[in-house]
Amino acid sequence: MNDLSGKRILLGVSGGIAAYKLPHLVRLFKKSGAEVQVVMTKSAAMFVSPLALATLSGRAVLSEIFPNSASDQESWTNHIRLGEWADGFVLAPATANVVAKLANGFADDMLSVCFLTLRPNKPKLIFPSMDGEMFDAPAVQRNLNVLREQGCLVIEPEVGELASGLVGKGRLPEPEKIFALVCDALSPKEKTLAGKQVVVTAGATREKIDGVRFISNYSSGKMGFALAEAAAELGAETILITGKTSLPTPPNVKRIDVESAEEMFREATRYFETLDVFVAAAAVADYRPAETHQGKLKKSADALELRLVKNPDILLEFGKRKKSHQLSVGFALEIENALENARAKLAAKNCDIVALNRANEEGAGFESETNRLTLLFKDGSCEQLPLQTKREIAKEILKKASFFFRKTSLTSPER
Ligand code: CTP
Repeated sequence: MNDLSGKRILLGVSGGIAAYKLPHLVRLFKKSGAEVQVVMTKSAAMFVSPLALATLSGRAVLSEIFPNSASDQESWTNHIRLGEWADGFVLAPATANVVAKLANGFADDMLSVCFLTLRPNKPKLIFPSMDGEMFDAPAVQRNLNVLREQGCLVIEPEVGELASGLVGKGRLPEPEKIFALVCDALSPKEKTLAGKQVVVTAGATREKIDGVRFISNYSSGKMGFALAEAAAELGAETILITGKTSLPTPPNVKRIDVESAEEMFREATRYFETLDVFVAAAAVADYRPAETHQGKLKKSADALELRLVKNPDILLEFGKRKKSHQLSVGFALEIENALENARAKLAAKNCDIVALNRANEEGAGFESETNRLTLLFKDGSCEQLPLQTKREIAKEILKKASFFFRKTSLTSPER
């Protein structure tokens, strides 16, 4: 049962047709015990009645920064009071214009000013809703990425019938779905990794041949990013060490961009002493060219031999130094003798969990949004997960990590 008792939600509403769904959303928030302060733009009032939202929320709806009368000396400081007051901020619908304003620090109405005064680390959920072409426009995507980098959770609009009569991407999710996502973000019950440090490696490394060429692989980094997102959602201090990728940084995650396996190893070792969970989701190149040529290697002889030398195995090195209160999760990409090889990896690298990925399975693989994994545990047991999105799988793996801490907190004298 979702419960928002006592939670204080600052609900921003901007001027899109989907604002008609807002009275229902306010009712869901209120029924689950939340206090709701609606802050809307002037154009939002053309799509949904401020009186309806004020009646349902039990609070006057705010829109202007400055009061109408000189006798009202306090209301213009509402933005500061509300920034401190709110446990979370929800912007639904988020129009392209308001997204641009928030991404660039504009402060010309109550909504944009309140956004600037929100306390850090409070969840901020942005629900863009607009025509699909507009949503995909480079400027809108750039602004959404800026908001993501600032720690906002941007929820992609849904595909369906749009107000324009077209069918496509752009719909605001139904109020029930928005409500569930807000509960997830605000509910302290879910923070099972609070106080823990989780380090995730992700993506492919690049091993330089010369100034313009490198050896790499097809890893997209999606699984690692989903794991970092899930760890942060569960309240962990999350560090994501990633090879080159254009994926946006998940909210509340510290991202460290690296290029080579050696660099990834160097960054990861800085956390070996302090981390609680190490998740090695990166596709690290096992070998690198013995030497990197300066500038560009010119074509001359008919054949070119590259001598490769072994890279550090990050997961293996962590396995050697791991203390009993620390947990390590590895991935194994296998084709033949999958279970046997994954078991051997679990033992060799001293892992607690290995997620086995069978290459060339339908719906799985580097670029895919979904995956089908088998989890192998240290005690010899294993669990087959159904075909799920990488986000769902990430949640499942991190949940297992939480169980580990619940168990060891009863038995381990070290913590
Ligand atoms: N790994 C790592 N550092 C490396 C190589 C691998 O941290 N230099 C980690 C990966 O992130 C993954 C696990 O080890 O969690 C297994 O990676 P995989 O490539 O499947 O196995 P390898 O040990 O490289 O063995 P092989 O390629 O021979 O299957």
